[in-house]
Amino acid sequence: MKSLYFVTLLSIATGLGQTAAAVALEPRQSSTITVNLDKTYQTMDGFGTSEAFQRALTMKKLSETEQRKFLDLLFSTETGAGLTILRNGIGSSPDMTDDHMVSIQPRNPGGPNAEPQYVWDGSDNGQLWVSTEAANTYGVKTFYANAWSAPGYMKTNGNDANGGSLCGVSGATCSSGDWKQAYANYLAQYIKFYAEAGVSITHVGFLNEPDWTTSYASMSSSGTQAADVIKLLRPTLDKNNFTSVQITCCDTMGWSTMNTMLNQMGASTQALLGIATGHSYSSGPSAPLSTTLKTWMTEGGDNNGAWTSAWYANGGAGEGMTWANNIYSAITQGNVSAYLYWIGGQDRSSNTNSKLIRVVNGQVDPSKRLWAMANWSRFVRPGAIRVSSSLAGGSGVKTTAFLNANGTVAVQVINSGGDQTVSVAVGGGFVVGSASAWVTDNTRDCDEVEVAVGADGTVTGNVPFRSMVTFLLQPGEAGRGL
Ligand SMILES: *[C@@H]1O[C@H](CO)[C@@H](O)[C@H](O)[C@H]1NC(C)=O
Ligand SMILES: *[C@@H]1O[C@H](CO)[C@@H](O)[C@H](O)[C@H]1NC(C)=O
Ligand SMILES: *[C@@H]1O[C@H](CO)[C@@H](O)[C@H](O)[C@H]1NC(C)=O
Ligand SMILES: *[C@@H]1O[C@H](CO)[C@@H](O)[C@H](O)[C@H]1NC(C)=O
Repeated sequence: MKSLYFVTLLSIATGLGQTAAAVALEPRQSSTITVNLDKTYQTMDGFGTSEAFQRALTMKKLSETEQRKFLDLLFSTETGAGLTILRNGIGSSPDMTDDHMVSIQPRNPGGPNAEPQYVWDGSDNGQLWVSTEAANTYGVKTFYANAWSAPGYMKTNGNDANGGSLCGVSGATCSSGDWKQAYANYLAQYIKFYAEAGVSITHVGFLNEPDWTTSYASMSSSGTQAADVIKLLRPTLDKNNFTSVQITCCDTMGWSTMNTMLNQMGASTQALLGIATGHSYSSGPSAPLSTTLKTWMTEGGDNNGAWTSAWYANGGAGEGMTWANNIYSAITQGNVSAYLYWIGGQDRSSNTNSKLIRVVNGQVDPSKRLWAMANWSRFVRPGAIRVSSSLAGGSGVKTTAFLNANGTVAVQVINSGGDQTVSVAVGGGFVVGSASAWVTDNTRDCDEVEVAVGADGTVTGNVPFRSMVTFLLQPGEAGRGL
């Protein structure tokens, strides 16, 4: 039923073409958003975060009440952000000192062809707890397992930190031999441990910021070297019956660097990938990657600014509205299907915005960055298709629209102009049954606001200066076209 309805919505041609007569209100700008369900863009996989580097473990040390609040804030669609993707770090370290992520094979088994000596501690640096909760309590379905590096004994520099390459990839030879297949087996084993614990990993990546060498887990790679691994990893996953687990690459430090890597790996290797992934540090997702693959922005955050929980103060890098805008750009300009913030919650003393949720005196404290994620994630659900939304009149208004898999149309409006009256008209045969809208600004927290549904189905509401408003349009019976 649902899919029939869904196809119908997309296939009925022509828009409504008309907008409602302006609603008489105080003088303000007015603009019209025309949503066209026939003009489609990327399909969304969701919004997410990570609790890697033992952040999961530190959150698990909180009281049970605070643990629950933390998990609710990340994953609940009722009282939190309703995030739908969790990115776990596949450990590469021999130990857990500092915030090292311990590996599932901490010690060299004796060479690439020796019998593996995997170790499962049932915790995975605290991440199994978050993953199990996300899956079982909140229905999260997308789990991205991502290695920052191979263990040191598999690498040219003998260390999981400080760069170095995987032994056996093009131009990287080691006296210990070629570790490519051993690394692929090791990644498959991580997925197996999770499957045995009841969590289905859906995506696996074997690189993190291969374009940056640093004193924690890091491994260098070109696109050519990545291709050497991908060609072995795909059949290895398949042999282990993980045919539906998609390989991602390459979580580059900067978005644009991914183009270089994709170009180096070429079309035949790209065909073995599920998702092209990049971060937003040295360059952000301001343009689509040159690939036909789906793309995810898998890591971004304000890692430097002092903690702020403001929605809008002066447009600073850590403010909620800034992140609402960052997500907007990534979706509309970068063509991303997923957006992940770095990181979820942590109790570390570093007083920066490199977290959505901090811990103060043992209690969790969310920022407006979390709520900026929420304002997207709660209304744009996995499977939502972005559709065209064009704006006429008004200024300083940005808009996106999505057709959710359940048939609702969600329209986002971010307003950096003055106060506006905004009318939304949906074409493509969509008949509005009912409509609601919620406003978020400095004083309002997604408060429901009144909207008027005109006789022609146009939905009109007020969008205050420096706010984000979401209109949610439920289809009417007649819209079903059955
Ligand atoms: C994969 O599935 C097949 C068919 O169910 C089964 O025979 C085989 O043992 C499985 N292989 C692994 C590695 O689990
Ligand atoms: C956007 O991404 C989709 C895959 O999700 C791809 O098919 C499409 O070509 C991309 N669009 C542009 C303009 O790159
Ligand atoms: C459809 O999905 C949206 C977004 O999650 C949700 O707010 C809405 O309640 C859902 N509507 C129905 C009819 O299930
Ligand atoms: C949107 O953000 C506000 C705060 O900025 C928050 O209170 C509200 O709950 C968020 N909306 C949703 C649907 O999560």
